[in-house]
Amino acid sequence: MMLHIPGVLTPAQVAEMRALIDAADWEDGNATSGKQSRLAKQNLQLPEASDAARKAGAQVREAVTRSQLFMAAALPHTVYPPLFNRYGPDQTFGDHVDNAMRFQRDQGIRIRTDLSATLFLADPDTYDGGELVVEDTYGSHEVKLPAGDLILYPASSLHRVMPVTRGERVASFFWIQSLIRDDAKRALLFDLDVAIQTLAQDVGLGAPAIVSLTGTYQNLLRMWAEL
Ligand code: NI
Repeated sequence: MMLHIPGVLTPAQVAEMRALIDAADWEDGNATSGKQSRLAKQNLQLPEASDAARKAGAQVREAVTRSQLFMAAALPHTVYPPLFNRYGPDQTFGDHVDNAMRFQRDQGIRIRTDLSATLFLADPDTYDGGELVVEDTYGSHEVKLPAGDLILYPASSLHRVMPVTRGERVASFFWIQSLIRDDAKRALLFDLDVAIQTLAQDVGLGAPAIVSLTGTYQNLLRMWAEL
């Protein structure tokens, strides 16, 4: 399942974050790459351990944790500390699948990457190209979102970032280990959750059918969740 989550950051928060990270020192994006990615990847990245990356990363983590839509769709077990990248003219990241595991030694974080997320931090009018293209069983999807919006997609998908031809594409990207490893099960829970919330607006949260459906949601979560 791919999901667009609008307004994770407000325009003011994006501007503040850009001021913080734009002033920092960036390094070659291959610092975090596997050998295969290295062949395909040309971009710049904020060093993981830099003050700017830590501060801005914490802000991104806080923002997604506040987003009901993100929490309902991702059902996060652990959100990996967000990273930041930028692509200038002619920079690109060719087809790849993200590594299955991520280790962050400083904070002792080790996750299985179930979901990938990209939070766009540049206004789409300020650059050409730079679309995130995600392949799934329904074909390929091009994503280029307003600054402050996020796309959530299965980390198992083949994806790429199209070459930038003008301006700069700046984004935060990170991975999530979900309580629900399987994408299809997670999508079912999300659909059920959304349907319950929608129905509850009409009949009230206390209606017996809503109580029953909420119980079913919780019991499915209990059956499938891995802590
Ligand atoms: Ni990737």
